[in-house]
Amino acid sequence: MTTTSGASGSSRIPIAVLISGNGSNLQSLVDAQEALESYEIVVVISDRPDVQGLDRAHDADIASEVVDWNLFESRVSFSDAICDVAERHGARGLVLAGFMRILSSNAINRFTDAIINVHPSLLPAFPGAHAVENALAYGVATTGITVHFVDEQVDHGPIISQESVMVRPDDDAASLHSRIQHVEHRLLPLAVAAFAQGNLTVDGRHVRWGTSTPETEKR
Ligand code: GAR
Repeated sequence: MTTTSGASGSSRIPIAVLISGNGSNLQSLVDAQEALESYEIVVVISDRPDVQGLDRAHDADIASEVVDWNLFESRVSFSDAICDVAERHGARGLVLAGFMRILSSNAINRFTDAIINVHPSLLPAFPGAHAVENALAYGVATTGITVHFVDEQVDHGPIISQESVMVRPDDDAASLHSRIQHVEHRLLPLAVAAFAQGNLTVDGRHVRWGTSTPETEKR
């Protein structure tokens, strides 16, 4: 099936940003949203209370809600609650920005081709919650970033953009992750903007960019 995500036109597409922690990717989306003029963060949803990302939302005057993973009996009820909050705020897309939970199939179907995740490796290498540590342990010379649509398998959906990051001999997880995040903060807002502009077409595993090209192809 071929679907065009987001929407064309001049109005901004409302999105919900899902976080689990620091929220530096959330911050990059906040900082870019005025310049990119295509999406509006209508709510930040955290699966944990007391995370720095919630302070970032507050500082940016963006609504935030905690959907506490620990208060739900199942992934399905947790995911339903996330979608309910997002829809109540009018969101038409979800951005997983350091969100460390797996959403249910039902949630993915409620936002078909409208959930974007950022992952700190060149997928399909090193999926999961410890991508940076696993890349270092494996001894790869290059790792990177993947921004992709979310499907029903973990860290698997159609790839929107990727960029490589060299591993240095003296890297530890913190130093490598820091350079990876520097790139994430550039790629993620561009991908979300392209989605919001209706500029991304999903065709099976392939994502076609419309009138603009991913940052990686501009160099
Ligand atoms: C980011 O580097 C993101 O790629 C990663 O968590 C970090 C969150 O940072 N996500 C995953 O590992 C998902 N599997 P942030 O809270 O500062 O945006």
